[in-house]
Amino acid sequence: MKLTVVILAAGKGTRMRSGLPKVLHPVAGKPMIAHVVATARSLNPDSIVVVHGHGGDLVKQSVSDHSITWVEQAKQLGTGHAVAQAIPHIDDDATILVLYGDVPLTQSDSLKALIEQTKGATVGLLTCAIDDPYGYGRIIRDRHGDISAIVEQKDATAEQLEINEINTGIMTLSADYFRTAYPRIDANNSQQEYYLTDIVGLAVADKLTVQACMIDNEDEILGVNDRMQLASVERIYQERMAWQLMLEGATLLDPSRIDVRGELSIGSDVVIDANVIFEGHVSLANGVHIGPNCVIKNTTIADNTIIESHCSIDTATIGASCNIGPFARIRPGTVLGDKAKIGNFVETKNAEIGLGSKINHLSYVGDSELGRDVNIGAGTITCNYDGANKHKTIIGDNAFIGSNTALVAPVTIGKGATIGAGSTISKNAPENELTLSRAKQTSISNWQRPKKES
Ligand code: UD1
Ligand code: CA
Repeated sequence: MKLTVVILAAGKGTRMRSGLPKVLHPVAGKPMIAHVVATARSLNPDSIVVVHGHGGDLVKQSVSDHSITWVEQAKQLGTGHAVAQAIPHIDDDATILVLYGDVPLTQSDSLKALIEQTKGATVGLLTCAIDDPYGYGRIIRDRHGDISAIVEQKDATAEQLEINEINTGIMTLSADYFRTAYPRIDANNSQQEYYLTDIVGLAVADKLTVQACMIDNEDEILGVNDRMQLASVERIYQERMAWQLMLEGATLLDPSRIDVRGELSIGSDVVIDANVIFEGHVSLANGVHIGPNCVIKNTTIADNTIIESHCSIDTATIGASCNIGPFARIRPGTVLGDKAKIGNFVETKNAEIGLGSKINHLSYVGDSELGRDVNIGAGTITCNYDGANKHKTIIGDNAFIGSNTALVAPVTIGKGATIGAGSTISKNAPENELTLSRAKQTSISNWQRPKKES
């Protein structure tokens, strides 16, 4: 069977009250349409066609999938009209699977079930029995239980409104049948739109098979029309992620207070405290503990490392048995060796920090290479920027940098060197020696404090 997925994404999304096209609003950090495209991809279709309208170029840019065929629907004349725009790009012998760009939670397995169960039918519908069917098209069945039509909310009779089996909108269609039947669809309805759902009545009249596949999980078919629904969909997605992580063996101190905006992979016995946000690709190895209120992005953390509360970690590689925070800011390009320690109010950027080295308090270490067992005293700053260019600081193994030192790069501190507290170091410091640059301390005897004039 040849499969083409058609994703409808031309709607304006007026109720979002946004300058951004609706399908670009993010769920879990990724545009809604990207979730739908990923689900479509997981079915290994022969082709994917996206029908776009407003903000088409923006939509194209944000879904960098070169195998997608983009089709513009200049005027939104209805879902049937939208599919008709895609038809010239679809082979006659294909089955079309219609998805919506604003329905991001549908699971691949549910779509596989729909395709499997409605194989051979001219039209296959994914339907769902829900408590509050308001707003949805209703599935009309005859006295044998066979589907005879779909009636939209706005066109339904009082009796039809009582039906709680609804059209999720997701359906399979024979491309060849749609092409030949579409001209018979008119816009004589309350919204004056060419309804895709009218294909059902036509297929029944033509004595062709219409089959339904019922889905249990209502969450999967939720559409986003406004910001409240966007927030609900986000929560459902996050709940799914939290369950998934717990199934994989993570301890989440509060599964309702974790956000995964990307992919998080975990080893065994990972513990994640409340209010942690993961972005992009994050990997936590065995025994990693993440304290509360951390934001961790595109980072790998090796075994048994502890991240204390309130850390911001972005694009870093962190070794095993390290200790970071609380209140540390680890910026892109930080590479920490095993057993390194980064304490409170420390900022690192583009810095390689060797095995067992410590930067415990109030420091900035940028564009630097630190060997192993280096100790950086409180208030040490690498002065890496001269106003025009960035320069490097290199610190050898076992060096000890006294508190409140300014290391003016480019500068190299030799192995085993000691730098006296309060120094401004602008020349290289030799191995194993004490280097310091500070004014000699003097005391003035018989000195009188000024007195207040009366
Ligand atoms: C549609 C179905 C309804 C179903 C509901 C499920 C029809 C006629 N009705 O109604 O039976 O219960 O979805 O959510 O199909 N779109 C376009 N071009 C258009 C019109 C719509 O691309 O001209 C896209 C929208 O961007 C959206 C999707 O199609 O992604 C659905 O459109 P919408 O207007 O929201 O359909 P409903 O009225 O909700
Ligand atoms: Ca509508």
